[in-house]
Order: sequence, then structure tokens, then C-alpha cells
Amino acid sequence: MPTRYALIGTGHRAQMYLDAIAGPHAADAELVAMLDTNPGRREFHRDRHEAFAGVELAGPEDLERIIAEHRIQRVIVTTPDRTHADFVVRALEAGADVVVEKPLTIDAPSARRIEDAIARTGGKVLVTFNYRYSPRNTALKRIITSGEIGEVVSVTFEWVLDTQHGADYFRRWHRDKTNSGGLFVHKASHHFDLVNWWTDAVPERVYARGGLRFYGQDNAAARGQEPLPARGTHDGPHDPFELDLREDERLRALYLDAEQHDGYQRDQSVFGPGITTEDNLTAIVDYTGGVVLTYALNAHSPWEGYRVAVNGTAGRAELEVVERAEVVPAGEESVLDPSAVADTTAAAGARHRGERLVVQKHFEAAREVEIPAGEGGHGGGDALLLSDIFEGVAEDPLGRTSDHIDGFRAIAVGICGNVSLETGQAVDVDDCLGVDLIRPQRSQAAPAALGAAR
Ligand SMILES: NC(=O)c1ccc[n+]([C@@H]2O[C@H](COP(=O)([O-])OP(=O)(O)OC[C@H]3O[C@@H](n4cnc5c(N)ncnc54)[C@H](O)[C@@H]3O)[C@@H](O)[C@H]2O)c1
Repeated sequence: MPTRYALIGTGHRAQMYLDAIAGPHAADAELVAMLDTNPGRREFHRDRHEAFAGVELAGPEDLERIIAEHRIQRVIVTTPDRTHADFVVRALEAGADVVVEKPLTIDAPSARRIEDAIARTGGKVLVTFNYRYSPRNTALKRIITSGEIGEVVSVTFEWVLDTQHGADYFRRWHRDKTNSGGLFVHKASHHFDLVNWWTDAVPERVYARGGLRFYGQDNAAARGQEPLPARGTHDGPHDPFELDLREDERLRALYLDAEQHDGYQRDQSVFGPGITTEDNLTAIVDYTGGVVLTYALNAHSPWEGYRVAVNGTAGRAELEVVERAEVVPAGEESVLDPSAVADTTAAAGARHRGERLVVQKHFEAAREVEIPAGEGGHGGGDALLLSDIFEGVAEDPLGRTSDHIDGFRAIAVGICGNVSLETGQAVDVDDCLGVDLIRPQRSQAAPAALGAAR
């Protein structure tokens, strides 16, 4: 019998789960209801798949009724971050287990409410960390667990988001830090989760610096930039940071056409007023076992990707990833596209999309580790993640499935980093978030299989 699901939050991210339920996981999962405050987006997702013709559409106020009436076993939460805790707690209390997008939640009080609800109900919460399943990140995990570089003592990790993807966090709800905890929580929880998982260590103390240095009205004015229209001009010459929702059928249907219902503007100027989310962040983090992380995030880079170096007592592993080598304004052609220019050697940029994992032991030559190519999103990682969610966890020696404890650990650095940004002091994670949340007795706290009968 397929597991009975409801999904709340029918925006962009919902699509990955809904396509899986309508497609490869149709035998594992039955979608019974979709809930959202916006009827336009609910209908958009219902109409994308014939299999969803009979699915009930409702507002979030109906969550408990729907869980009870339809005996929903799992609720998938893909709403904006600030709402996660409420829906996780409500779903658990109504008797369902939860699959929730990262970040699990955005601050310490709401993390506590989730922990209390799990303890009270015995329900299970799975946080979906798709980056763990990406073949290159898995390859680095294998190197570390093989012991080849010895005991890990430090990690340096830099992540750069470009003027396309990075800018997108400053166009909509993420631009207001109260909606997401800022990029420290919203975005970097992916990265901190990777460090936790790679090193098998738990964050203990955080010192953070950062701020809003590029996006926002004040920064633009300080650079002498002319004020831009609130949502761009689109027709004729326009700023390369503008997003024209009309150019993309999906964006148009999901956001522009649905705007009439709730006024959600997906395409606000990244140089407009009201931005409180930082675009530059750094942190130094102490972990259990003496591991130290040096982390940096920049959200206005000309290219996108990351560099991570893991120093061990026997050597060092380095992973370098270029996800996008350059951002090309709409209507222009990439110099990296060989068909676009006559002399590629002269005109092509110096950076190329790709990934490279290099391991070097002390007193030995470096060797490049082959990264297996997968198909689909995140190098095949999304398909593996979806199998774990919908079919149950197969034996995984790499321990990629993540429960609520991993969820708390992933947001710990960001939440405590935010406190450090405010106070200018290093922050103890146990004090800031609660030792029982991030270092409970796993045997007592870890759930067995998601969806098992309570
Ligand atoms: N793992 C990843 O790689 C990844 C990628 C993108 C987004 N996400 C996560 O997915 C979540 C959703 O992001 P998105 O990009 O889809 O955002 P979105 O704005 O496109 O979609 C959010 C949806 O939630 C609805 N919503 C807002 N408030 C609601 C409420 N109170 N009750 C019910 N519905 C409500 C909105 O109407 C919208 O349809 C976020 O938590 C984000 O962090 C994860």
C-alpha cells in the first residue's frame, strides 16, 4: 500500500517531490492533498500531472482536518523557512510524520518547539539534505571515512553564489532576514550539514562576522548607482540583475499569474529597500574532537561554486567545484560556448564548469579521485534522496539519511552565528541552542523508519 501524503507549500521546491510522486515513486506514495495560501500555485501543481486530478486543494488552516479525514501518514513541508516549525509541530500533533525542507527552522525557540513536539508525539521528522547525495560530496565523505588523510583537524570551506543564483535570494521573501534566518541559516545550513556529516563532528562554538555589503538600496546609493524601478523595466535596455518573469513559462505561471491572490512579488529589485539579509558571511567554528572550520559565503560572485579543503593528520583532500563559470545577461551569448565565438582560445574565459577532488598524503604525489557521474538534479543526488524518502532507507554505510538531530545540528552554526553577528562575541552552541537538541543520546532520539506506525 502506498503511503498517504499531503504537501504544504506548492511553490518552486514542491515540484521535485510532486514529480517523484507522480512519476518514479507512484507505487510508493499517494498524494491526497495540497495546501497553500495561494490557490493559483495549488492549481498549477495539480494541473501538471493527470494523476493529481482528484487531489484535494486547501488552505493551511485545514491541515489537521485533512490529516484526520484522509488518514495522512506523512506531510511534506515546502513552505518558506519561517513557517516550517509551525507546520512540523501541527502535523506531528495531528498524527502524521514529516518530511521537511531545509532549514528545519530558523531560530532557537522554534527549534525547541519542534523538539518538544517530537518528544510528546513520538513522531518522526526527516530533513532533506540533498547535497549529501551529490556524487562529489559523497566521494569526499568516502575519502575521509577511509582514513586516507588521517584524523581530520581542520576544514576550510568557501562557497560563492553568483549574480544569478545569489541575487535571487534578494528578490523575494529571503531578502527579509526574519523569513529565513538569513543566508547563514537558509543557505549555509546545507554547507554546515556537509561539514557535520563529512567530519562526523558536532559544532560547539561559533564566531561570525558579516553583513550586507553589495545588494540593497543603501549599498547601491553609496556606489553612486541610479535608483532602479522596483521590479525592473524589462522592455528595452535594462539592468542585468532584473528578473523578467514573463520570459519563463513556469515562473510566469507560478508567480506572476498567481500574484493577484496574495501580492507575492518574485522579482523585486535587488537594489530596492527592505533588504536585511547579509550577502557576505564568515565563521570560525569549533567542533567536537578539536576540528576547526573556517567558512565563508559570498552571494554576489561572478561565478558559482565552492572550494573545500580538509586537513588531516596524514594528508589533505581538496574539492573544487565550478557550478557556473559566468553569468550571461539575458539575450547575450556566453564566451564559453564554442559555437558562439570564432576563436575560443582567445575569447573564452579562464574558468570552466567542472569538479575536481584531489587527495594528497604526506610525502606522496597528489592523486585525482574520480567522481562518478549521475543523472538528474545535483549529479544524480536528487534521485537517491527521493528513493530514501519514498522507498525507505536502504543500508547506507555513508549515513546520508538525516533526521531531526541532523536538522538541528545543521542550523546550529547559522543560528548561533546570527547571535555572534549581533553581539560580536563567540557563542557557545550548547547555550545558544540547547545541548539536548544537538547532542542527545542518539539511541533514544533517533527515529527508526519514517512512516512506521506509532
Ligand atoms: N534543498 C534545496 O536545494 C532547496 C531548494 C529550494 C528551496 N528549498 C526550500 O524549500 C522551501 C520553499 O522554497 P521555495 O523556493 O519553493 O519558495 P516559494 O516561495 O517558491 O514557495 C513557497 C510556497 O509556500 C506558500 N506559503 C507561504 N506561506 C504559507 C503558509 N503560511 N501556509 C501555506 N503555504 C504558504 C507560498 O504561497 C508558496 O507557494 C524553503 O524552505 C526553501 O529553503 C530547498
